[in-house]
Amino acid sequence: MAHKFDPKSADRLIAPERYQEIKPDVLLQRLGTPPGSTILDLGCGNGFFTFPAAMGMGEQGMVIAADVSEQMLLLLNRRNPPDNVQVLQVEEVKMNIEDASVNAAVAISLYHEFKQPLDNLNEVKRVLKADGKIMLMDWDPQTMRERGPSKNHRVFMSQALKDLKTVGFKIDIQENYVDDIWLVIAHLSN
Ligand SMILES: C[S@@+](CC[C@H](N)C(=O)[O-])C[C@H]1O[C@@H](n2cnc3c(N)ncnc32)[C@H](O)[C@@H]1O
Repeated sequence: MAHKFDPKSADRLIAPERYQEIKPDVLLQRLGTPPGSTILDLGCGNGFFTFPAAMGMGEQGMVIAADVSEQMLLLLNRRNPPDNVQVLQVEEVKMNIEDASVNAAVAISLYHEFKQPLDNLNEVKRVLKADGKIMLMDWDPQTMRERGPSKNHRVFMSQALKDLKTVGFKIDIQENYVDDIWLVIAHLSN
């Protein structure tokens, strides 16, 4: 856990093959957040999900593209995000975002980089509206496929599910999205 992504490899994140495999539009459908909503793309990197999400949320909606890395945000800015994207540098846990202001938070390939995952989930919970949702997608440690972050830095989906429940989320979807990548969608249960 907690090894940070090297911005030198950022091009890989927005390669056409990754779009074909992960299909951000399918993720948006699964999340079910309608146009006009605010989505937090936490650990947005150079914007793999930010751009499709901004398109999906439309002019009345918004995407907060948040990352700890100034360099990744610079790369995102170079890709000229549309007006409904707010680019935000955040601290490891703390985000300068108002309480209860976000409809859904999405964290793709981020969970294994968190140093204090429960604190991060609590911070996400703070910024979510009462019926807010969270989507986590990350690498399965138990796979024969040789790609992605090293297996001892990955997090089991079962651990993420446990953490989400501890913080007060109810699980809606838990599945292997691609053979070595899991997906969880949950909502706030109070
Ligand atoms: C593997 S990249 C994934 C980027 C993007 N989500 C994607 O799927 O293409 C992980 C990103 O999370 C960022 N990150 C790591 N820890 C973070 C934290 N605590 N809060 C916000 N961003 C973080 C890294 O700087 C990096 O840009």
